[in-house]
Amino acid sequence: MPNIEDQTITAADPNVDPLAGTVFSSHRTVEAPPLELPVALKPNTRLKMDGKKFLSLLPESAIPVAFFDPQYRGVLEKLSYGNEGENRGKRRAALEQMTEKLIAQFIRGIDKALIPSGHLFLWVDKFHLCQGVKAWLDGTNLDIVDMLTWDKGTFGMGYRTRRRAEYCVVLQKQPRRAKGVWKIHNIPDVVRESVSQRDHPHAKPVDLQGMLMAAVSHEGDYVIDPAAGSFSVLQAALNQRRTFLGCDLNG
Ligand SMILES: C[S@@+](CC[C@H](N)C(=O)[O-])C[C@H]1O[C@@H](n2cnc3c(N)ncnc32)[C@H](O)[C@@H]1O
Repeated sequence: MPNIEDQTITAADPNVDPLAGTVFSSHRTVEAPPLELPVALKPNTRLKMDGKKFLSLLPESAIPVAFFDPQYRGVLEKLSYGNEGENRGKRRAALEQMTEKLIAQFIRGIDKALIPSGHLFLWVDKFHLCQGVKAWLDGTNLDIVDMLTWDKGTFGMGYRTRRRAEYCVVLQKQPRRAKGVWKIHNIPDVVRESVSQRDHPHAKPVDLQGMLMAAVSHEGDYVIDPAAGSFSVLQAALNQRRTFLGCDLNG
C-alpha cells in the first residue's frame, strides 16, 4: 500500500492517451540503450563503494534516471543544534560530509551517465534551496525543470521555525522536453509521506521516489543512486520493477 497521504497517483492506461493533442503525453517514447555493466556493479544490491568511483564505472549516456541526496556539510556547519553527540544527531555527525566541490563532481558524473532527456532528482534542504544549486550545474547539460516539496509530517529542529519539509529539485539533461518523456501527470508538487528514520537519519520517501522514477522510465530501466544511505531508492526501484544500481560509502 502506498504511504503517500491524501493523494491518488496512478500511471495512465497505456492503451488510451487522454493527453493526445496536448503538449503532454502519458506515453514515453524515449528508450535507454542496452547496458553492459562492469563486474563490480551488481544491480539491485547495496554496494559499498565511493560514489565517485561508482559513477566513473558507468557507461556514458546510458541511464534514464538518477537520484542524488548529498551528505551536505552545510547542514552540520550552519545548523548545529548541539545534539550532535546524541541519538540521531550522533548518527548524522558520523556520516561522511560532502564539500560543494565534491557535490559538483558527483553531479557532473551523473550528467555523463544520463541519457539525453534523462532526469536527476536532487534532494536539497531549505538552506541549499535558498542559496541555489545552479553553481553545481556549471559544465553540465542539466537544466532545472521542476521542484517538489516533501512534507515529512513530523517536526525536525530549527532555531526559528522547525523543519518539516525537504525539497526535490528536478533536473533534466538536454534536450529538455516533457512530451514523450514524462508520463505521469497527476503527481502533486507537495507530497506528504511519513518515513521511519530508524535505519538512517536522512531516509527519503520510498513511494514518492517510486512515482518519480515511474514517470520517467520504463519497467526494467536502470535507476542510479551514488550516495544511497538507507537505500530507499533501491526499495522504490524494486516496488516499481525498475533495476537499481547504487552505492554508499557505508554500504
Ligand atoms: C543524505 S544521505 C542519503 C540518504 C538516502 N537518500 C536515503 O534515502 O536513505 C547521504 C549519504 O551519502 C553517503 N556518502 C557520503 N560521501 C559519500 C561518497 N563519497 N560516496 C558514497 N556515499 C557517500 C553517506 O554515507 C550518507 O549515507
